[in-house]
Amino acid sequence: MDRVTGKTCIVTGAALGIGRACAERLAEEGGAVALFDLHDNEGEAVAAAIRERGGRARYWHVDVSDEPAVKRAIDDVAAEFGGVNVVVNNAGISGSTKLTHEITEAEWDKVQAVNVKGVLFCCKHAIPHLKAAGGGSIINLSSIYGLVGAADVPAYHASKGAVRLMSKTDALCYAADRIRVNSVHPGYIWTPMVENHLKASGATDIEAARRDVGALHPLGHMGDVDDIAWGVVYLASDESKFITGAELAIDGGYTA
Ligand code: NAI
Repeated sequence: MDRVTGKTCIVTGAALGIGRACAERLAEEGGAVALFDLHDNEGEAVAAAIRERGGRARYWHVDVSDEPAVKRAIDDVAAEFGGVNVVVNNAGISGSTKLTHEITEAEWDKVQAVNVKGVLFCCKHAIPHLKAAGGGSIINLSSIYGLVGAADVPAYHASKGAVRLMSKTDALCYAADRIRVNSVHPGYIWTPMVENHLKASGATDIEAARRDVGALHPLGHMGDVDDIAWGVVYLASDESKFITGAELAIDGGYTA
């Protein structure tokens, strides 16, 4: 109930999927939650539901690839909630499914703008607040495809590999400031992103495709959003106070 009580937690991409679950679980564990997203109706609804259950939450419309907007929103969160302690860089897109010989520069850049520069901008503008708070925890959502390769979506996989090493670099650069930085590597989790990806890949029987993808994991099924959210709560809490620069694979054994 109280694993992150007293901490202000920013969650990007918090309107849907994994980010929404992270925001909900962090709020249940006592955190004040700032939700960043582009889906205003869904984001406002998640924040309102948290408040109805007695938690503290507010939604901000923020495109994480827009640096001035990110800085404004993070400064605003710090002013409203009295600082920033935890940042969950979850917002991401799967983007173009084109292979290397056919992808355009614009399609490549679009994925990097959200998945890589979005993480950079949120870290860059949160770090001064984390330092001011005497430390904190940054949790970056990478992927199993930041750990191993796969024969599709090269722009996405490149972005998730970048997030993995950005996390390790920042873990080393800011350890003396007591800022911990870790990456989380989900296997396939049933969310709008995965459903859209399966449809874009030509799947017509979505339930069959869901079972087939689940079977790629040694545990025999896809994960659910709370499997990831509880890992994020752990990394946000002081239970993980000696963990930095680590990769937490939550993947049903996919990368074992
Ligand atoms: P989702 O597509 O279901 O939700 C992503 C959320 O991010 C949406 O609410 C969307 O509006 C928001 N978002 C997208 N671009 C944004 C931007 N520029 N600024 C602010 N918000 C933005 O995705 P899902 O599945 O919940 O994924 C969350 C994270 O987990 C992503 O970084 C994804 O790459 C990663 N991941 C997901 C896996 C899965 O199987 N679902 C597996 C491995 C990693």
